Amino acid sequence: MSRYYIDGGIPLKGENIVKGCKNSVLPMMAAALIHKGVSIIENCPDISDVRDMSDILRSLGCVVNYDRGTLTIDASYVDGDYLSGEIVKKVRISVLVMGAMLARKGCIRMDYPGGCRIGKRPIDYHIDVLRSLGANITEKDDCIEAECQALKGAVIYLPFPSVGATENALIAAAAAQGTTILRGTANEPEIHDLCVMLRKMGADISNFRPGKIIVRGKDSFLSARHHLMSDRIVAGTYAIMAAACGGSIRLQMDNVYAMTSLSKVLKQMGCIVNTGNDYYEVTKKARLRAVERIVTEPFPGFPTDLQSQIMVALCLADGKSTIEEKIFENRFQVVDELVKQGADISVFGTRAVINGCKRLYGKETTAKELRGGAALITAALAAYGQSIVTDENDYIRRGYENIENDVKGFGGRIYRD
Ligand code: EPZ
Repeated sequence: MSRYYIDGGIPLKGENIVKGCKNSVLPMMAAALIHKGVSIIENCPDISDVRDMSDILRSLGCVVNYDRGTLTIDASYVDGDYLSGEIVKKVRISVLVMGAMLARKGCIRMDYPGGCRIGKRPIDYHIDVLRSLGANITEKDDCIEAECQALKGAVIYLPFPSVGATENALIAAAAAQGTTILRGTANEPEIHDLCVMLRKMGADISNFRPGKIIVRGKDSFLSARHHLMSDRIVAGTYAIMAAACGGSIRLQMDNVYAMTSLSKVLKQMGCIVNTGNDYYEVTKKARLRAVERIVTEPFPGFPTDLQSQIMVALCLADGKSTIEEKIFENRFQVVDELVKQGADISVFGTRAVINGCKRLYGKETTAKELRGGAALITAALAAYGQSIVTDENDYIRRGYENIENDVKGFGGRIYRD
């Protein structure tokens, strides 16, 4: 458990070199299973999701080492075939192991990864994709059994551009016999980062245009070394901190193109956004303006993973804003905690109406999931007075390597124990 003690009301100023992307490295760790050798991932963040996924790979027989940002996975000998609920419930994306293990071993049994605070998180798209590639999958009360003689290429239409299901399909199809055509795929930057890594491993992947990917299966792969792209959600979280607290934050990152939808909103709110090839800078001087409607959508739309954070900034804007959460059915967990701090937010199903207020007040709040926790730290930094953000399950450390150090780098007054 962690408690963050924060003195708020101080404008932030500083720079940050954004670490590697959590939602890129996790699918790449699953992809490493299809190669009977070593895969190396550089610029890897030291976060608990990576440690938990490393334990998952170790339980299957991999040797995994992490040393100062470099993750080395040796999947030469993979002899496991079962993942218990205890281990898969920690990291939902462990479901990606299913496609990789069907490709590698032809079988895997795993307890349901289950849902979390932000939604039920079903895996029906994943199961349908793998069945399309020839897997026999039996869904039992508490676990899933999957096996196949060999995965065979297919034409697959995803009913929704699911990030995880697209990643499962890519990993499985890369090692299937024959050609797979994927339609309706997700187009997030993390998908492209995974494709770059898979190509370095020798996979034959062509993504001519958004929503269509062609994969020609291979029966063996190469040892690859890949440098993770920057984490656009961590970057966006810090950019929104500047908007909410005032001041100016400059972020060094290698995928500024991925920030377009956030930039549009921040500019509508009156922030100054400056960008270059490798930096993203947000400055807030004047009082923020409300934004009539923000809708979370698949990339390139506004990312659901920044929804709670932008809500905090909107709480301090002049006027009424609305947020439509279109990706997850329960992603307004942070609202009650923000209302404690003086926010005026009403929730109607998947729509939140925010009436801006003069200020937020320091209070004791509780993190209930990863991005909501980051939003509460942002609110505490913007609030007048002292706050304590309690994070009983260390959700925040799942996705932020050292948020307190990063905030101190911006001049924020924060202490974690
Ligand atoms: C990935 O989750 C990210 N996680 C999430 O980030 C992110 O919010 C999400 O994509 C959307 O961008 C990782 O990459 C590790 P989806 P994923 O499949 O793959 C429904 C964070 O904070 N769905 O695109 O699970 C699902 O319930 C995390 O870093 C099905 O119905 O997201 C959701 O409503 C949170 N059946 C929608 O699709 C399925 O089989 C989008 O989910 C799969 C998904």
